[in-house]
Amino acid sequence: MPPHLLSFADLSYAEVINILDVASDLKEKRARGKTSNALKNRTLAMLFEKSSTRTRISFEVAMTELGGHAVYLNYKDIQLGRGESIADTARVMSRYVHALMARVYRHETLVEFTKYSTVPIINGLSDLEHPCQLLADLLTIREYKGKLKGLNFSWVGDGDNVCNSAILACALTGMKMTVACPQGYEPDKGIVNKAKEMGGIVSITRDPLKAAKNADILYTDVWVSMGDEEEYDQRLRDFKPYQINSKLLEQARHDVMVLHCLPAHRGEEITAEVVDGPHSAVFDQAENRLHAQKALLLELLS
Ligand code: CP
Ligand code: NVA
Repeated sequence: MPPHLLSFADLSYAEVINILDVASDLKEKRARGKTSNALKNRTLAMLFEKSSTRTRISFEVAMTELGGHAVYLNYKDIQLGRGESIADTARVMSRYVHALMARVYRHETLVEFTKYSTVPIINGLSDLEHPCQLLADLLTIREYKGKLKGLNFSWVGDGDNVCNSAILACALTGMKMTVACPQGYEPDKGIVNKAKEMGGIVSITRDPLKAAKNADILYTDVWVSMGDEEEYDQRLRDFKPYQINSKLLEQARHDVMVLHCLPAHRGEEITAEVVDGPHSAVFDQAENRLHAQKALLLELLS
């Protein structure tokens, strides 16, 4: 395993498959009420610069169910929010906890933490990537489709942090990735190039119907990510043709699965009919954050 998980590209194919296998096993054991003490006396610090429901709760529950402990830290409540340096914060935290999961505005903040931390740093979402989300997504896709390789993964909407991690996850696992987004909202160029270097097939189009054609997976995310609030009106106008709705679904394969990292804005990036409809896997996907992150924590901490 890598020392830190900042980008989905930090993981090898074998490491990803191992995490998914461990996650499936833990999920099955949890359903049977089997508990674990594998992370007894281990503590995860969870630092948040932005809001979270799934990431916060699933990481905390993961630590609890593995016999360990999690500490929630809002950056405003610790000295970091009053100007203490990342360097000193990282050095001090390394003396107390066994890993730090952080949700930050700037990806650079995570990179800075890795320079001074002697414990693993986990990206709990930055402006650039959301790798933990994609671990859960791959687990969900594998559960529904029985495989990953060869599937058509279509993204419709903003080429944002989740999209960037999805591009890398597709490249690593052999899924063909198509992104439909308006001009100016493309995924990160460096990430697209990296995915192509990894042998990934990534195409970017302006046409959501074209992207949806023959899709095995249709994925979207909010049009206005945390930090983009000032662009709200402009974004709503620009993204209007990029909604996942019944008409778009008709283009996809008959057994298409619809994914959304959540929170969902019904009537914006996705209609209620679709997100609450028979093709949607969004709540299994949200549940799988727990199982996938347990597996990740076991790999990084034990
Ligand atoms: N998908 C996701 O990361 O959700 P939260 O923002 O609620 O953590
Ligand atoms: N792209 C969204 C994901 C939320 C989980 C955001 O950054 O706000």
